Amino acid sequence: MRARGIEMASKDCVKVAVRVRPFNKRERDAGSRCVISMTSNNITIQDPRNQQNSRTFTFDYAYWSHNSFSRNKDGLFVPEEAGGRYADQANVFHGLGQGILENALQGYNATLLAYGQTGSGKSYSMVGYGPNKGLIPILCERLFQFIRNSQDSRQCQVFFSMLEIYNELVVDLLSKASRSAGGLRVREDQQRGFYVEGLRRVPCDNAVQVEQLMEQGTRTRTTAATHMNANSSRSHMLIIVQLKQIFSKECITKQSNINLVDLAGSERQRSSGSEADRLKEGTAINLSLTTLGNVISALADMALGKKVVHIPYRDSILTKLLQSALGGNSRTVMIATLSPADICYEESLSTLRYAERAKRIQNRAVVNESPTERLVKELKAENAKLLLRLSRLGQEGRKADDETKELRRLLTHNELQIRAIQTLWEQHLQEALKDWESQYATITQERRMMQMFPYIMNVNEDAQLSGVVKLFIQEGDWDIGLAENSPRALAIRGLGIQEKHAVFSNHQRRVSITPVSGSKVIVNGTSVSKNTELQHLDRLVLGSNSTYLYIGFPSERSGEDWSRYDYDYFQSELAAAEGIHIQSLCDNQGHRPNQTDPSLLAVFYDYIKLMPMVTEANQMSKELKKGVEFKLEIKNLAMSDSKGHDLEKEIAVRVTSVESKQVWMWSKVKFVNRKFLMEEVYQQEVVGGEGADRAPLPRDRDPFWDPLEPLHLGSAHLWLQSLAFRIPLEEQVEVVGPEGTEEAILQAQLVPCSPTGLPLGEDDILIDPSELLGKRLDFQLVLDQCCGLRWVKEVRKRGVQIGFQVFDSPQPLYSPAVWHNVNPLLDHRVQFTSLRTSQELLNYLQSTALVLELWGLQVSCMDGVQMTQEDSIIIDKIRAPEKMAEETSGSDLSTSLRALHHDLEQLRNTNASLRKENSALRDQLHSARNGVENNRTRQDRRGSLRPSCDAEFAKALKVFYHSMTSVRGQLQRLRRHKPSEEADLLGLRLFVDEHSYLLKDFAEQMEQCVTTLKQDVAAIVRRKREKSGIWS
Ligand SMILES: Nc1ncnc2c1ncn2[C@@H]1O[C@H](COP(=O)(O)OP(=O)(O)OP(=O)(O)O)[C@@H](O)[C@H]1O
Ligand SMILES: [Mg+2]
Repeated sequence: MRARGIEMASKDCVKVAVRVRPFNKRERDAGSRCVISMTSNNITIQDPRNQQNSRTFTFDYAYWSHNSFSRNKDGLFVPEEAGGRYADQANVFHGLGQGILENALQGYNATLLAYGQTGSGKSYSMVGYGPNKGLIPILCERLFQFIRNSQDSRQCQVFFSMLEIYNELVVDLLSKASRSAGGLRVREDQQRGFYVEGLRRVPCDNAVQVEQLMEQGTRTRTTAATHMNANSSRSHMLIIVQLKQIFSKECITKQSNINLVDLAGSERQRSSGSEADRLKEGTAINLSLTTLGNVISALADMALGKKVVHIPYRDSILTKLLQSALGGNSRTVMIATLSPADICYEESLSTLRYAERAKRIQNRAVVNESPTERLVKELKAENAKLLLRLSRLGQEGRKADDETKELRRLLTHNELQIRAIQTLWEQHLQEALKDWESQYATITQERRMMQMFPYIMNVNEDAQLSGVVKLFIQEGDWDIGLAENSPRALAIRGLGIQEKHAVFSNHQRRVSITPVSGSKVIVNGTSVSKNTELQHLDRLVLGSNSTYLYIGFPSERSGEDWSRYDYDYFQSELAAAEGIHIQSLCDNQGHRPNQTDPSLLAVFYDYIKLMPMVTEANQMSKELKKGVEFKLEIKNLAMSDSKGHDLEKEIAVRVTSVESKQVWMWSKVKFVNRKFLMEEVYQQEVVGGEGADRAPLPRDRDPFWDPLEPLHLGSAHLWLQSLAFRIPLEEQVEVVGPEGTEEAILQAQLVPCSPTGLPLGEDDILIDPSELLGKRLDFQLVLDQCCGLRWVKEVRKRGVQIGFQVFDSPQPLYSPAVWHNVNPLLDHRVQFTSLRTSQELLNYLQSTALVLELWGLQVSCMDGVQMTQEDSIIIDKIRAPEKMAEETSGSDLSTSLRALHHDLEQLRNTNASLRKENSALRDQLHSARNGVENNRTRQDRRGSLRPSCDAEFAKALKVFYHSMTSVRGQLQRLRRHKPSEEADLLGLRLFVDEHSYLLKDFAEQMEQCVTTLKQDVAAIVRRKREKSGIWS
């Protein structure tokens, strides 16, 4: 019912509360630090990487639920000491829920929204877990309590609805009818605004009924989540409690809608929003959350007095349904939930910013009264006026009489209407009661079975949905799989689940599982193919990612806490089986496990999070015959920047085409976005059963496909220090891949030269680099050859290119592409000039390395062009021998032929490089011989000839510089070497020993360098003295 009478509207802002939850297990294991602090309603968040950087926000309410609590005998989390700072569920209800309830009772619409990243405590606050009931159940309890206590003054009706918005589809969570493919429709009505057509409204008259309905809704949600291979945290849950109060004496009916919204994890909004992806626009998955953000921003701007032309309510289902809650006729509260851990800093900061914007929104709430009651009131007033006039004038009695009659008629009509509503309401209640009875019977039956048989129960990424599905393993053999028509079948759905997937056997109180051939079954992280006996609390993964916990016979259960076997536990166990655990990552980095770098931890958790998604993507690719494989990689594990500092690690997904071996690298964000799209496609083509007669998806809309791009294979560092002394440098540098693999060896030179490109001689070597200041500096970068290219070794038709960017030059430069060769000659020379050498450039040269990036190329303009073995282009139409062989002698033959060609090519290359070396050696020998001859003649003429002292000095410096590079390496090792934060005395002693060992080593190396330099300089000085005698 939409109220008129704007004059009654009270203008008030959205109230915002923030709640901080305790660390979860993974955060505790990681030794996380708390980055959030609270004093009264002020919340301060501290950047873990920069102590100077903190931000403070102020909200209407702030709830500290992070620590200082204990669990009482009823399982409730309560403050450790009475009046302590810990905010429990009752505190939160008192602050937020009570107000919502009061508003609703006054006849206002009221909305409560929970916003925050996945796992931050939205559902804990809204719904609650076990005895720690959340806002919704407490609110309903209090509502019915109030109704019971005020029966004399009013008659109340409560209707309960529960829906889910998933991928812009509205699903009725209380409807038993099979869901329609397109979901329920959202319609707009002049009076009601937006509403969901055909949504089930269940009448309730006590809180137990509401709890049962919520349980039913959660069950539907869980089934949907497991069937659709989708994580429920991507869906928004909306509960609508409609309250109608009839005040018969006053002839007033008040009606209010209480919207209770548990939103999808907020990081979903950012996952598609922040990075360019070709298919970004295509996805509807995050549309609701993104639009909600846009609506809130627009409303916040409006409140600040900015001109806002359009508020995009109509862009998504969620914002349509929340239109009245945001800037409309509702009193609205938002609870923003936060994890206080350092690894969640970015997400928590973004949640706080979001909440900050939301608190500016201004609503105009009005008390909702039905127009008929209003009419009655108006007529009464009118009548009173008329009677007054009548008594005064005695002239208009007749008219007043008529109107009084009309008034009476209306009153009678109204009373009849109220009675009819009452009867209808009781009928509805009776029907609902029957429903509850059958529901209750099912629940009681399930509880009985739990006390008799072993069973498996589902474990979901969203803890709210875990433990909802229970499959009992009674005596005998039970098939588990998609098939549901046999009486001895346990039906499950999910990605990669076969018709008959495995068999459970329960004989003589022993339970085992036997996978059917070709189906995937993992027990406690290990893949099994034979009959495997199960123990109480074993972890099962069926198909791609259907996770279940096995609960043994009642006698085997000993009251332990099963909640530790959560979704994270399953995934960490799987990652450990792949050799990825936090220790191994730390070891790689020279960290000790207990002093883990937060960014490394974040990467580890990303890995765990993405792992099941990658498995699912692979399964979908297989079933849809997309021919691509996905693999997780940790990028930058071994990469450093131009100063030698470690680069931030991140997760990437390597996509490989099985047939063509083409490779793509997707960022985490892009993969997550694509995974949503893949699910959409999969849903339509496989689950929707429309695969057969559907036209194949055009390439440009296919989430599995992307145009090819050059791939960053790795980097090499060429230190520029020698240029500051104008000493030429020739190096063979290793190109290291992101994960630390050797991708190639690159031969490169830095040659100081004249403006015309002539190499400078030894006499131009500088002793003091500051001599360069203000002068012109020319030098050349020469890229000679790349050797042992792994990229090309894997697939011959690939190519490479080297990219580099020097100092302030505006863009990176690239060497020409070279193709099909494992050891290609690059022979690329670029000259750089600084017209006036600045101190800045000098610093750059002395402290920086030129990063040479190796780029892998996969499509060349030569694709389709046929070549001979010697890389010569064939111009006639005769097919290439390789191709002909392939076609005539079958694939086996062609593979071995290709291998032979490959070997031949390598031999040819080796031969060529040997020949080159041979000729270089010959030249050297020749010039040595000549040199000896020349020397002899020169010596005859002017005695012995030695290189100039400056050149020797430069050489000594070069030696010194080289040894200092390794000393610097040692210093870096020392810097990283830190004791574990939890080390005991013995541990510390061991650390000190080890450290002094490293220090001694460092000191010796340093000493050695300095001694060598001293000796060299002394020798030079001596020689100079001998020559000139001026230093005597
Ligand atoms: N205030 C709290 N006190 C104790 N435990 C909490 C609190 N808040 C959250 N938790 C625990 O943290 C876990 C995740 O919380 P919850 O399911 O509420 O997250 P969520 O924000 O709803 O995540 P999702 O977006 O995945 O639905 C749960 O196991 C819950 O019990
Ligand atoms: Mg939740």
